[in-house]
This record gives sequence, C-alpha cells and structure tokens, in this order.
Amino acid sequence: MQQSQTDTQQETTLTDSRFLRACRRQPVDRTPIWLMRQAGRYMPEYRALREQYTILEIIKTPELARDVTLQPIDAFDLDAAIIFADILPPLEGMGLELDFVKGEGPVIYNPVRTPADVAALRTPPPSEALHFTLDAIRLTRQTLDQRGIPLIGFSGAPFTLAAYAIEGGSSKNHQRVKSFMMNEPDAWRELMTKFATVAGDYLLAQAEAGAHALQLFDSWVGQLSPDDYRQFVAPYSQQALEIASKADVPIIHFGTNTNGMLTDIRDAGGDVIGVDWRIDIDHAAQILGDGVAIQGNLDPIALFAEWGALKSRAQAVLDKMHGRDGHIFNLGHGILPGTPVDNVRRLVDFVHEYTG
Ligand code: CP3
Repeated sequence: MQQSQTDTQQETTLTDSRFLRACRRQPVDRTPIWLMRQAGRYMPEYRALREQYTILEIIKTPELARDVTLQPIDAFDLDAAIIFADILPPLEGMGLELDFVKGEGPVIYNPVRTPADVAALRTPPPSEALHFTLDAIRLTRQTLDQRGIPLIGFSGAPFTLAAYAIEGGSSKNHQRVKSFMMNEPDAWRELMTKFATVAGDYLLAQAEAGAHALQLFDSWVGQLSPDDYRQFVAPYSQQALEIASKADVPIIHFGTNTNGMLTDIRDAGGDVIGVDWRIDIDHAAQILGDGVAIQGNLDPIALFAEWGALKSRAQAVLDKMHGRDGHIFNLGHGILPGTPVDNVRRLVDFVHEYTG
C-alpha cells in the first residue's frame, strides 16, 4: 500500500514535469531543456567507459546503458533523460550486419542494394530483437523516478533507416538511397513498410517498457524534395507514428534541413516538432501553428563559442519563443564530440535562470 502510494506520487510528479508539460503545450515554470546526444564522447565519464567497452556492448548491457544515460543527468540540471541506444541496432534484427568503426562511423557489411535484398529483410518483434534497450529503460526508470526526471525513448524514422541500410553507412549526397527510391518504387514501398513496422513497434515497446516520451529521428530527410518526401516517405513515417501513438505518450518528430517541408512533417504526425537552426524558431512556430509544441533550435557549434557568444544565441532562441507555451529548448542537431563541458553546464543553467 505504502509502496504503491509512493509510486503514484512519483508518477504524478513526472506527468507534471516541465518537459512533459511543455510537450502537451501547458504552461511551465521555466523552459525545459535537454540536448540531443547528451550522453556521449564530449563527456570524460563516457570516454572512460568506452576504453573498456564498444558502443554496441554498452547498448546491449542494460546496466551500462543505464549508467551512460545517467551521466549527463548527474552532471547537468537537464529536464529529461534519453535512453542510451542508437538508431541503428534495429537493423541487426532485420538481418543486416552492423558495426561502428573507429574514425569511420557506422558500417553495414551487407547493405540493401536489390529488391531481393529487401524481400530478405525480417521484421522481428522488439521484444526479441531489441530486448536489451527495453530492459535498459525499465532499469533506468528505477533511478530516474526518484529524481523526478522523465525518460525519452527513440527510433530512427523509416527514411533515415533506409538511408543507412542502402548506403551501407554515413553518406554525403545519399545518392544510392535516393536512386533506389526513384528507380525501384515497388521494392521501395516494401522496404519502407518494413521500416515503418520496425520503427513503430519499437517506439511502442519502449513506451510500454516505461519511456515517458518518444522521439522519431528523421535526421537525413532534408535531403529530399518536398514532393518526394510527401510521396515516398511521409506515409511511412505516419504509419510508424500511428503505431507508436497507441501508447498515449508525447511524440517528438525531428528532422534536419526541413524548412521546405515543415507542414508535411507536422502532418505526418507527432505532438512536438523538432527543428534545426537554419530557421528562426518563431518563424517555424508560425508555420507549424498552435496544434503542436516545438523543440530546438540552437546551432550545436554555438557550444564551442566563448560564453558571451553562446549566451546571446541561446537568449535569442528564448526571446523568439517568449510567451508561447510548448517550447522545449534543445540544439538543432546532436551535440558534437569535443564540445566543452563547461559550456553545456552554463547553457542548461542559463535557460532555466533566464526563463524562471
Ligand atoms: O542522445 C543520446 O544521448 C542517446 C544516444 C544516441 C546515440 N545515437 C548514441 C551514439 C542517440 C539518440 C543517437 C541517435 C543517432 N544515431 C542518430 C540520430 C541523431 C542524429 O545525430 O542525427 C544517428 C544518425 C545515429 C547514427 C550514428 N551513431 C552515427 C552516424 C554514429 C557515428 C558518428 C558519431 O557521432 O560518432 C553513431 C555512433 C554513436 N551513437 C555514438 C553515440 C554516443 C558515438 C560512438 C562512440 O562512442 O564512439
């Protein structure tokens, strides 16, 4: 009885946390802030652990994934945690051989290049293929609940997953994935349907395991023309988001270079739209309208500037959103390796002080 009362109280506190309130466009005491890729190589604690383990070992060991998720929470006054994982492990369960190679980034040794490769891809349930991240979420919540910090789960979006699966790694022009989309429309639809299932089921499973919010990362979608996005990509993002929305937790829909397709991204789904720094955030908010919250949008490079230059840019983002409910402060893309830790601390504190 006592235990369950405490649980209920903690649950209420979390539901009322400024991050989740902002996701629902409710008034907040201060603007919430978290940073994409907030756990990672810019932190000495992370680099120390990486001397002993590979990134995939950390992701697949729930205790380690929990410890890394908590590193930035211990170091900074952040308003949300994001589970330590990556967008690419779901590809392994589908039959692709994934590794992270030092200096090169992700590599897929057997990329998807033909319709037969698409047909061979499996769509196993996340409880089978991604149980380690679901376990990491359950484990991390035990610590975070006591601190009143909500936890975000995430997945790559169908297009961004297809980009890695077809290119075989990172890419500048995304020539292979876009050519496949243009030349093989039937196989493309089959591929994107598989990714919509995998991404949607994975997001839903993370919410069921305890994630309080979800983010769909469509990092490379800005490589497409708006017409191609609407025809070849948006229906599958929408399908993934529809599956995920069965969980009834807020969903953040993020992409970069999306200025020409913001309303299309919004229409594909999501309660919060993430925008990068290539647009004024008030302009983005005006385009998106009142039905969604907005996340962003400081240039991650600003964290390398001296404090005065960083502060004025953070202040400009906050001033543009002043008086509008439903703003979650974040970077416009992930935090970069080499980012000075002191600047991260000062930024987080400044966002709270300035809006408090
Ligand atoms: O935000 C967090 O703190 C949670 C962890 C997280 C990672 N990757 C850990 C990671 C998240 C949310 C991601 C998402 C991710 N992964 C994206 C979408 C966000 C974005 O930046 O666009 C993408 C495109 C990837 C794919 C990926 N993973 C790449 C291209 C690389 C290599 C390049 C790089 O940044 O090192 C990774 C590896 C990776 N994922 C690292 C971390 C901390 C660094 C690996 C290391 O420890 O050596």
